[in-house]
Amino acid sequence: MSNSPPDWLAEYPAGVRETLDAALSGRLEAAIVLTRLFLALGGTGRIGSLLSRAESESQARGDRDGARRLRCANDLLSREAASFDTMRDVLAILHGDTARPPSVEASSLAAAFDAAVELSPTASVALYSLGDSTLLGGATQELAALLHSRGLLGPPTRVLEIGCGIGRFAQALAPEVASFTGIDVSKNMIRIAHERCADLPNVMLAVTSGHDLGTHADGSFDLVLAVDSFPYIVATGPGLADKHISECARVLTDGGSLAIFNFAYDEDFGTSRDRLQRVGDEAGLSLVGAEPNPLRSWDGSFFQLLKQSPT
Ligand SMILES: C[S@@+](CC[C@H](N)C(=O)[O-])C[C@H]1O[C@@H](n2cnc3c(N)ncnc32)[C@H](O)[C@@H]1O
Repeated sequence: MSNSPPDWLAEYPAGVRETLDAALSGRLEAAIVLTRLFLALGGTGRIGSLLSRAESESQARGDRDGARRLRCANDLLSREAASFDTMRDVLAILHGDTARPPSVEASSLAAAFDAAVELSPTASVALYSLGDSTLLGGATQELAALLHSRGLLGPPTRVLEIGCGIGRFAQALAPEVASFTGIDVSKNMIRIAHERCADLPNVMLAVTSGHDLGTHADGSFDLVLAVDSFPYIVATGPGLADKHISECARVLTDGGSLAIFNFAYDEDFGTSRDRLQRVGDEAGLSLVGAEPNPLRSWDGSFFQLLKQSPT
């Protein structure tokens, strides 16, 4: 939008203007824009008129690219109208009537994900997929490209994913790494991951307690990956995230990395970064990367912690 927000935007919750700006500039893809607006507005009712109005203003300002992007988002909204009902149902299972993950025991969390994945495998792991496997596939590839660009993947890499869900990263990455181990508290997630990865011999999948990294041996992984799982670990209990980070340090080999995509949903980027720096230092992991919004098709912050070789 222009530097001074139009008066009519004042009736919308904080954050809507920033989302429209990200849509206009193309910094965020349409599916993420719609998911953000859905969460901010509590439904789809006002999204169409908001996008139409912002599109008209962009046209009037001569911002044809921005107007085209808003029109694409509005078209996607019309095409995927039914997906938002699924998204609402998945959210109700996972978060109840709160906007963020509620503070619950690992066993209740597992039961919630067990139910959510039966409703929609794609929306239960990524609301922003709108339940569409093509959209989810694009986001998976963009995130994988970021891991590649950081030199975190290669033929000798042994990967552990905490909270692997339906195994989309196992499926995408296993062909290019030495081994991929996925663990999850939800037995139904693991069942679906098994089905998806049945023809990948270097994929190991297991249900975990959610309390620690179980029987995985010290120094047995080069990369520990956690995509949108830490926010649930953080919500489960104050000490559990710290415990998991020290467990990651234990199972990583020297020179290995912990890659966290979203640490906590209820704190800002700087707070998560400072906390990860402190907890990482205590565990023997150095925070070597922190980016607030590195991707267009996934909404959140990326953190890389490195296990330094002892000097
Ligand atoms: C939002 S989903 C993301 C799944 C997957 N990472 C992806 O992006 O497709 C979060 C997953 O984390 C799992 N989870 C939550 N807490 C966990 C814990 N303490 N240990 C292992 N998995 C956990 C949930 O069961 C769920 O499958």
